[in-house]
Amino acid sequence: MIKTAQAFGVDIGGSGIKAAPVDLTKGEFAEPRLKIATPSESTPQAVADIVRQELEHFEVSSEIPVGIAFPAPIKPGKTLDFMANLDKSWIGVDVTEIFSQACGRPVTVVNDADAAGIAEQHFGAAQGQEGLVIATTQGTGIGTALIYNGVLIPNTELGHIELPDGKGDAEKYAASSVRDKEDMSYKKWAKRLTKYYGLLEKYFNPDLFVVGGGVSRVSEKFLPYIDIKTPIVAAKLHNDAGIIGAAYYATTKTA
Ligand code: BGC
Repeated sequence: MIKTAQAFGVDIGGSGIKAAPVDLTKGEFAEPRLKIATPSESTPQAVADIVRQELEHFEVSSEIPVGIAFPAPIKPGKTLDFMANLDKSWIGVDVTEIFSQACGRPVTVVNDADAAGIAEQHFGAAQGQEGLVIATTQGTGIGTALIYNGVLIPNTELGHIELPDGKGDAEKYAASSVRDKEDMSYKKWAKRLTKYYGLLEKYFNPDLFVVGGGVSRVSEKFLPYIDIKTPIVAAKLHNDAGIIGAAYYATTKTA
């Protein structure tokens, strides 16, 4: 791994497992990232094995902190009790333990949206923002990070709030994967996003919303049509935020 990288980040998603060495002085990748497709049976062993391969690919030495962004609420020392978009056999597993074993070193695991939110706060669209930021990731599901005056309130699961009028679980109605699947226009999707972000606005009164995930690269197609009062901006780090935030988070946890 090249020398400008101070940490290594991995982002585990419903479609891909992405990894890169991260230059934390700049908040960017030190080498191009590697993406391996998430196995259709995304069991703990199968996913951990891919993470191991990614560390081997970049020849990550043992003194480099490794952070892993994971799509579920993570409580260190506790087993997982909720999983929306990977294999249900993750429930009951100590996620940090599984990855540390596979990687042959202690690793730090953090919720993927929290990782992305931290990255946007330190290096991206929420830099210097005071008050309450709600950073969201749009992908297979919807992830959320609440950051108040720069401090993360971890493990919020606001992608699963119940929408009114029988629309049900928010991410099943308003995630960007739903737009893809239903081949919906961006304008039509923005109407759904207005309902979703409007509800978050009503209950949390944030100062800023950040919309992340791959779709943030084409934010001009939908952001102007989200009709809410709170400022809402695209993530600056787009899909890289999970890797960068996980790498950053790992350095804050390693003495
Ligand atoms: C999970 C969250 C995750 C989000 C984005 C949701 O389904 O419950 O923990 O942050 O997807 O991956």
